[in-house]
Amino acid sequence: MSPEELQRTVAATIVNTNRALEQRVRAQLAALQDQSLLRSLEKPAGLDLCSNDYLGLARHPRMRRRLAEAVRSLGVGSTGSRLLRGHRAAFEAVEERFARLKGTPAALYLGSGWAANLGVLSTFPTSEDLIFSDELNHASLIDGMRLSKARHVVYPHCDCDALSQLLESEPCSGQRFVVTESLFSMDGDIAPLQRLGELQAAHGFALVVDEAHAVGVYGRHGSGLIEETGCGDGVFLSINSAGKALGVSGAFVCGPSWAIQLLVQSARPFVFSTAPPPALAEAIDEALDLLQDEPERRVRVLEYGTLLRESLDLAPSNAPIVPLIIGPSAATVRTAASLRAEGYDVRAIRPPTVPAGTARLRVSLNADLSRAELAGVAGSIQRALGRRA
Ligand SMILES: Cc1ncc(COP(=O)(O)O)c(C=O)c1O
Repeated sequence: MSPEELQRTVAATIVNTNRALEQRVRAQLAALQDQSLLRSLEKPAGLDLCSNDYLGLARHPRMRRRLAEAVRSLGVGSTGSRLLRGHRAAFEAVEERFARLKGTPAALYLGSGWAANLGVLSTFPTSEDLIFSDELNHASLIDGMRLSKARHVVYPHCDCDALSQLLESEPCSGQRFVVTESLFSMDGDIAPLQRLGELQAAHGFALVVDEAHAVGVYGRHGSGLIEETGCGDGVFLSINSAGKALGVSGAFVCGPSWAIQLLVQSARPFVFSTAPPPALAEAIDEALDLLQDEPERRVRVLEYGTLLRESLDLAPSNAPIVPLIIGPSAATVRTAASLRAEGYDVRAIRPPTVPAGTARLRVSLNADLSRAELAGVAGSIQRALGRRA
């Protein structure tokens, strides 16, 4: 075959391969569309009822100012991983401060909660170990378990009796881990941390708690539900997103120094990724100042959660997340659209983010809402749900 013929053959093969791939992808997208599961990217519009900015810190003037100043002094990118030139004094300072807030000997800042969960669960459990995981745990915990060499067992949501039975019946020659969120992100309910502590005393497992949605919102100092419930002694590691109530991004893993040391050596999302922009560490430091200076923000957002649940006749939960479970995805998408048309930024949450048949509106509240706005939200939701029925 001449070089020209070879080139033509290669080009034709690439075109055919891409065409086959395109057809397959288009079929996948069409299947999602048919099931009302096709996502689209929509910019914020209307009153924020769907972000995780529970305290309103992402737009707080002090946060904007501090980040701008930090960028001026520290520059933009970190230029490398933390183990290379990406490490900075600002990271060290905020890690020490965050560890103090959580009451743990050490903390490590990673680029996202996702990366932190993958790092933790792929580092500590080994092939002889067994992980017990709440059935509603976040995708990042599930993917972390998939990366781990340990087997995992799923227990029914927040069901400590079922967990206790599994702890007794499931064979394990190594270390056992129990993994749970503290505030569940899509249901707005709270893990039974105290009960888990009792089970731990009986069964001796390492407890890993994802405080993604709780940090900043709960506890006397705003450090989360571990603080609020006084369960810190029983927790091996907590993972605390800085991208939600703290209004920035990244996440802290908090725990004993020896565990943090191993993460620095072995957590692949930490080792093999460019460190976040160092200015973010300064912005988080400002968020931690605001947790101290404006505690009324967390009081207000929790009160709003209670008020909205009451006005919609929902089961009580002390949380800024209010799920309105509708069931079918198509009806959920329609209801969200009708609320958006009234100026409320509410989004439909569909499988696989939530279990099949439980598509919902996830209303998340924030401390910047006024009482009048909250009353308006409640009225519009009632009408939207009534119209749908
Ligand atoms: C429970 C939970 N854990 C972890 C994460 C990931 O955190 P991040 O958004 O900081 O990557 C999320 C994100 O939504 C979450 O809800």
